Amino acid sequence: MNETTADATDAATAAVRRWAEAAPDAVLLDGFHALKHALRFGARVHLAVASDKDAVLALAADLADDLVGELAGRLVEIPARTLRELVPRVHPTGVAALAAAPGRQEQLDALARLPRRSPVVVLDNPRNLGNVGAVVRLAAGFGATGVVTTGDLDPWHPNAVRAGAGLHYATAVARLPVDGLPPGPLYALDPEGEDIRSLALPDDALLAFGSERHGISPELRARADRLVALPMRPQVSSYNLATSVAMALFHWGGPAAP
Ligand SMILES: C[S@@+](CC[C@H](N)C(=O)[O-])C[C@H]1O[C@@H](n2cnc3c(N)ncnc32)[C@H](O)[C@@H]1O
Repeated sequence: MNETTADATDAATAAVRRWAEAAPDAVLLDGFHALKHALRFGARVHLAVASDKDAVLALAADLADDLVGELAGRLVEIPARTLRELVPRVHPTGVAALAAAPGRQEQLDALARLPRRSPVVVLDNPRNLGNVGAVVRLAAGFGATGVVTTGDLDPWHPNAVRAGAGLHYATAVARLPVDGLPPGPLYALDPEGEDIRSLALPDDALLAFGSERHGISPELRARADRLVALPMRPQVSSYNLATSVAMALFHWGGPAAP
């Protein structure tokens, strides 16, 4: 074994050991984009590994030149085989990282704080982690206060974080019971509601969306101040959950123009 190979093997072994120590409560950032966003939005990254560090730095130079220096200092190169042992489905960019989960109380405080300058998106018992991640990404992009899910899915599940491209760190994300939702007028999105174009969505609104299978639950419907419909041609039953969130946030207004 030459010196370079030995160094790489030592670094890999050390990385794996630190990974195992950090793992129990850490968030898995799967892929370059998740790591990029997490770093930009202040995540405390315990460990970042790549199977080809030079390739990742080249990607950063292309897509995120603000992070090239930080990534050069942080990324530990490990053999592709070791990365496959650490991550169930290695991202095409060959990058993975572990970051500290934000404190739950901090997230709840951010969601409950008034006056609120942008809506909270509520996903009522979502079934698809890809949709949850896509909605977190929308909430981050639109500058929404946060995303609350009800039901049994964990919105911080690695598949949701992957679909959210690491933007869970750019907004507040928490799971809560329906009777523990943050304060604010509750606008439930449902095809039976009044046309969204006839009303303005206030900044302090909770914008609630139903599950992919069953729509808005009776419990949430009973709590809603307004039922609101997105325009849709007759005979089309519904839109996809994440696209519905996109339309509603766009109708609310989004971040101030630069
Ligand atoms: C895939 S849809 C749910 C379809 C479900 N089978 C149902 O019966 O409502 C997921 C969620 O997206 C929102 N949504 C979809 N299309 C909508 C529309 N035209 N108007 C308002 N909300 C809509 C609703 O919140 C809905 O519960």
